[in-house]
Amino acid sequence: MTATIETRQALTPPDSAERKMFVDGAWVDALSGETMETINPATGERLAVVPRGRREDIDLAVAAARRAFEGPWSRFKPADRQRLLLRIADLFEEHWDELSLSDTLDMGKPLTRARADKGRVAGMLRYYAGMATNLDGRTVDNSQPGEMFSYTRREPVGVVGAIIPWNAPIAASIWKIGPALATGCTIVLKPSEEAPLSPLLIAELMNRAGVPAGVVNVVTGSGTEAGAALAEHLDVDKIAFTGSTLTGQSILRASANNIKRVSLELGGKSPLIVCADADLDTAVPTVALAAFANSGQICIAGSRLLVDRSIHDEFVERLAAYASALKVGPGVDPDTEIGPLVSKRQLDKVVGFLDAGVEEGATVRAGGARIERGELAAGNFVAPTVFGDASDSMSIVREEIFGPVISALPFDSLDEAVKRANATPYGLAGGVFTRDVGTAHQLAARIRAGSVWVNTYHALDPAVPFGGFKMSGFGKEGGSEHLDEYLATKTVWVKLD
Ligand code: NAI
Ligand code: MG
Repeated sequence: MTATIETRQALTPPDSAERKMFVDGAWVDALSGETMETINPATGERLAVVPRGRREDIDLAVAAARRAFEGPWSRFKPADRQRLLLRIADLFEEHWDELSLSDTLDMGKPLTRARADKGRVAGMLRYYAGMATNLDGRTVDNSQPGEMFSYTRREPVGVVGAIIPWNAPIAASIWKIGPALATGCTIVLKPSEEAPLSPLLIAELMNRAGVPAGVVNVVTGSGTEAGAALAEHLDVDKIAFTGSTLTGQSILRASANNIKRVSLELGGKSPLIVCADADLDTAVPTVALAAFANSGQICIAGSRLLVDRSIHDEFVERLAAYASALKVGPGVDPDTEIGPLVSKRQLDKVVGFLDAGVEEGATVRAGGARIERGELAAGNFVAPTVFGDASDSMSIVREEIFGPVISALPFDSLDEAVKRANATPYGLAGGVFTRDVGTAHQLAARIRAGSVWVNTYHALDPAVPFGGFKMSGFGKEGGSEHLDEYLATKTVWVKLD
C-alpha cells in the first residue's frame, strides 16, 4: 500500500543553480561546457544557468532523433503512442503547480493565470492522444478500376525541429511535442534563451512517462547558435517555429538548404473593431484582456482599437479607467493581474514605443511609463497603457510592440474600419464587438486574419485551428489541420491483373 500513496516525485526546482539539457534520453552539458543564465524578470535576479548548446550539440540531438525515428519509436503502434500521451497528460496535471511556478519565475506570467491553464494544457495532450488513433489515408478511385488500385498512407514527416519563444513556454512546447508524438515524429526542441526552464521540466516528465530515448530532445542555447543550427540542419525534415516575423524569415531562408517543411506562427498587430451597438460592459474588460493579458506579450494581442466615433470618447475613458485599476506586480503575488515584461531588452523596446507614441502626437490616457515604485524598480514592469489621439501612420499603431499597449482610433463607417483593420502586413487575429449578428459575421468574413473572435477574445482550443495569414505566417496549430503539418501523404499504386 505505502508504495502507491506517494508516487509523485517532485521535479527539479526552477531555481536550482545548474541545469542540464536533455539529449538522447540523458541529461547532458553542452559539449563546449559553456552555460548561459536565465533571469527572473520580476526581480532581475539570476534564476539558474543552463547549457549553451551550439551546432555540435544540435548535431547530436538530431542524430539521436533520427535513430529513434527509424528504430524503437517506429515500432510504437498508434495505440501505444496514445497511451503514452495520456500518461504524459496525467503527469502534467500531477506536476502542474511546479510547471506553472516555473513559467512564473522564468518569464513573469501571473501565477494565478498560469495555474488556471492546467486543464487547457492537459486537454491539449489528451486531444493529441485521441488523434494518434485517428490518422488514416484513403482509397482513391482512379480511371483504371479493376486494373489499378491506389491508396494513400499518411506517414510521419520525420525529425522535427521546434523553436519556441518565451511568452508561453509550456503551451508552446506542447503545441509542438503533442502533434509530433501523435503522428510518430521525433523532435528536437530549442526553447527561448529567456525562458528555458519549463521546457526542461517537460523533458523530465517525458522521460518519466516512458518516452523512448531520442524521441523528445531539449537543447538549450541561443537563437543565432543552436536555433540557427537546427533551422539549417540537413537531417531535419520540418521546422515548427513560433516567434517574431524577422526570425521567421531567416528560418524560411534556412529551410531552402534541404527543402524542409516549415510552419510559422509569427507576429501580429491585431485590430479590435468596436461597433456603436456593442455592449460596453463586456467589451471594455474584453478589450483590456485582449491588450494586456500576459503584459501584452502574446502574438494575438489586440493592439489597434478601432471604435465607432459615436462611442469613442466614452469607450476610451472607460478602458483607461479599467487599465489604471489593473494590479501590476510580481507573478508570484496572488493579487497580480499584470506581471513584468520578460527581459530588460523587452522593457527597453516597449518603453521606446511609449516615448515614440508621445513624440508622434498620441496622448497617454492610461499608464504610459515604466513602474519603478518600491520593489517593482528591480523588475521589468510597465503600466498598462492606453493611447488616444493616435493615427494609422504612428509606429505604435503599425509595429508589433509586444507589451501592454493599445492605441484607440475612431472610425466613421464599417467599410472604413475594415479597410484600416486590414491595412497591416500582419494577419494573425482580430476582434469584433457588436450586438448585431449580421454585422458580426460580415466583419468576421472581411477581416484578413487567421482567427476572428466576436464579443470575446483569446479563446483557444486544441480542436480548433489557429494560425495566421500574410506575414503572421502559415500552417495551423490545433485541429486536424495541425496533424497535417506533421504528416506526409504517400500514394501507393498496385497493379491488379
Ligand atoms: P525571436 O523570434 O528572435 O525568438 C524566438 C525563438 O527563435 C527563440 O527560441 C530564439 O532563440 C530563436 N531564434 C532567434 N534567432 C534565430 C535564428 N536566427 N534562427 C533560429 N532560431 C532563432 O524573438 P525574441 O528575440 O525573443 O523577441 C523579439 C521580438 O519578437 C519581441 O519583442 C516580439 O515583438 C517578437 N516576438 C513575437 C512573438 C510572437 O509570438 N508573435 C514571440 C516572441 C517574440
Ligand atoms: Mg528568464
